[in-house]
Amino acid sequence: MTTNGDSERPNVARLFDYYLGGAHNFAVDRVLAEESIRKYPVAEIARTIRSFSRRVVRLCVEEYGIRQFLDLGSGIPTAGNVHEIAQSLDPSCNVVYVDNDPVAVAHARTMLRDNLSAAIVQSDLCDVGAVLRHPETRRLIDFTRPTAVLMIGILPYVTDEPAGVVARYRAALAEGSVLALTHLTRDVEPELVGQMVDLAVGMDQTIVPRSKQDVEEFLCGLKLLEPGLVLAAHWRADGELPGASAAADASTYGAVGMI
Ligand SMILES: C[S@@+](CC[C@H](N)C(=O)[O-])C[C@H]1O[C@@H](n2cnc3c(N)ncnc32)[C@H](O)[C@@H]1O
Repeated sequence: MTTNGDSERPNVARLFDYYLGGAHNFAVDRVLAEESIRKYPVAEIARTIRSFSRRVVRLCVEEYGIRQFLDLGSGIPTAGNVHEIAQSLDPSCNVVYVDNDPVAVAHARTMLRDNLSAAIVQSDLCDVGAVLRHPETRRLIDFTRPTAVLMIGILPYVTDEPAGVVARYRAALAEGSVLALTHLTRDVEPELVGQMVDLAVGMDQTIVPRSKQDVEEFLCGLKLLEPGLVLAAHWRADGELPGASAAADASTYGAVGMI
């Protein structure tokens, strides 16, 4: 996918930041973001997956005793990010963010500079060995202990053998670890999601929505936590404020599997 650090061309990490109410974006991002919001429920989808991610992090800390998080394709750490949720529940939680976008990485470095228990690694998440061997990953994550790997809104950007990439992360994880993902789908809203794919093409990006069957393949061999692979908006959403339109809700699957 395109990664650009200039202020002349829109950038997906900054668009996402804008959708989530962050301030790390330029005028060129805001113009496209506003245009997109008028046409598609993109901001609602961003909020839906952010809310899923929050529920998963809370569950990991509170119910499964997990204290280490590897957040792949993390974007700009806009408010409500993984380290904020996890460390507010237990300050001993360690978090490693991974993104290949220099803009997202620069912002994240600034935001995390005083946080010794969280770091950002600039890497292509598909280079699994580089991510796992990175000094910051090794400093903060002990893979012999339960770890949560988060793939939130990121697998549609992985066009080449996504199942293999997921499997390589899984292979590194100890028993009691968790792998959580969301995935854009055109199963329910084919036309709308097709238009969003076209929007990405206009930004020189390829995103691949996948069917429930495809996503099931990524989760093969994991013990899925209830309610299994469902629309992310419905995954243990009790008590969350409803807010997204039906179309936004229907665009993204979510699931959490345990090793
Ligand atoms: C849709 S945003 C998701 C952000 C975040 N996970 C969240 O839930 O808010 C996708 C992010 O993935 C990053 N990304 C895309 N392809 C990547 C790759 N191959 N390796 C690492 N990061 C990638 C982009 O730079 C962007 O920040």
